[in-house]
Amino acid sequence: MTTVTVSTSPAVSLRADAIVIGVAKGPQGPVLAPGAETVAKVFDGAWPEILGMLGMTGAEGEVVKLPSPDGVEADMVLAVGLGDAVNSGAYDTEKLREAAGAAARSLAGAGKAALALPVETAEAAEAIALGGLLGAYAFTAYRTPGNAKAPVGELTILTDHRGYPSAEVAAQRATVIGRELNRCRDLINMPANDLSPESFAAIVRAVGEEYRLEVEVLDDKALTQSSFGGILGVGQGSANPPRLVKIAYNHPEAKTNLAFVGKGITYDSGGISLKPVGSNEIMKRDMSGAAAVFAAVAAVSRLSLRINITGWLALAENMPSGSATRPGDVLRMYGGKTVEVLNTDAEGRVVLADALVRAGEDKPDAIVDVATLTAAMRMALGNRIFGVMSNNDIFRDRILNAARRAGEQAWPLPLPAQLRKSLDSRVADIANTGERMGGGLVAGLFLREFVPDGTAWAHLDIAGPAFHEGAPYGYTPEGGTGSAVRTLVQLAEDIAGDRKPAGR
Ligand code: BES
Ligand code: MN
Ligand code: ZN
Repeated sequence: MTTVTVSTSPAVSLRADAIVIGVAKGPQGPVLAPGAETVAKVFDGAWPEILGMLGMTGAEGEVVKLPSPDGVEADMVLAVGLGDAVNSGAYDTEKLREAAGAAARSLAGAGKAALALPVETAEAAEAIALGGLLGAYAFTAYRTPGNAKAPVGELTILTDHRGYPSAEVAAQRATVIGRELNRCRDLINMPANDLSPESFAAIVRAVGEEYRLEVEVLDDKALTQSSFGGILGVGQGSANPPRLVKIAYNHPEAKTNLAFVGKGITYDSGGISLKPVGSNEIMKRDMSGAAAVFAAVAAVSRLSLRINITGWLALAENMPSGSATRPGDVLRMYGGKTVEVLNTDAEGRVVLADALVRAGEDKPDAIVDVATLTAAMRMALGNRIFGVMSNNDIFRDRILNAARRAGEQAWPLPLPAQLRKSLDSRVADIANTGERMGGGLVAGLFLREFVPDGTAWAHLDIAGPAFHEGAPYGYTPEGGTGSAVRTLVQLAEDIAGDRKPAGR
């Protein structure tokens, strides 16, 4: 696993496999970004020409490697593009995160790299460290050892003496968030033949013990006893029975209680309303919300934030079989409401409904659910942005604000009253599907019915950004991305109102 350290050595004198410098797009070609001064001196004024010859413009995502000239201790210089040059003020933290990520990925197989990027603030140091850790990530658990390069071993953030202590704290925070977010990615990438509701719950239990978190697992028997008809109804077609997992972090001086609820469908075949070929290949991703909630609670606990957070993971496998829920069946949900299942492929909202009611019983100050809920959300916002719906405008804006500062793209969406009628059922209190147009909003309206009146609630539909199907870019790998983890941690941090270093 990649580690992060901080050093005040000058960039040219650090022994490493590579020294990473930033290159920005200036009006007359590439320019070196702050942090690269000592390296620039060694090149003796020739570097813009050299980088230009190698095809570098300074655009975001560009990576150019060259052997080090005399006077640079590291074996090679890696120039990474930062986009448009910044003349006054600091580089945008997201640009730094992306650049560090692209550099770290291209250094797979290397032992140690030093990052001489612009570090004007502790936030910049944290962004570089986090981007590096996220970019270095690769999912290799299922490859024969030796067939894949190991991630870069160590990333050293270079900073001047003035920035040293805060950069150290920043690196620790980044390490906590990076590790937990990469754990979330591992879970998403794990194939469904290895990650079942039961094995997912076992992993949460193990981590809970390690981190001294309260973990409670309701197995299928306990779910039956307490009448969790939604989770049971979705899980009953599978040989792998469902689970509801509670993972709670409490701080003795906490003033706020938050509940995070995650959709954890370990595989979504669609059930009897079976998905066609072309739509079922990567439905192992359908537990991304639960993985994000798990990772966020773990990270918040390791950051010792002054807040109480209870995570609820609604875990089930959605399969067709002789015991599966049929279209037209009516489920009696936890809390007593009845749901007519018109389409068994709209299963996420059904498991979430049970978990939302259970989360609401504890009267948290606010509830956030995270789910790969609808294909309609991908149609609306594409694959890099998640939608945020809420019953409370102020809370929704807090989440959007947290997302922006954490470097995640999120966008507000309405819960239009006129669409609610489409969920009316001929036989039950509500149906699980309604109007197709605006399907993401209809799903949100369904969930809202299961949130206690007066409790602030927000719904994050991460169906697009949870899983990246194209070539890696910046700090985003192919596969599970860890969408929503950073937003949840940032939200918890904002609400806790303090910024404490890791481990204290
Ligand atoms: N898990 C899917 C949504 C999804 C689709 C996530 C593609 C990621 C990528 C969800 O359970 C689903 O099947 N939703 C249906 C609902 C419909 C039947 C009302 C959808 O969006 O098509
Ligand atoms: Mn589905
Ligand atoms: Zn699903």
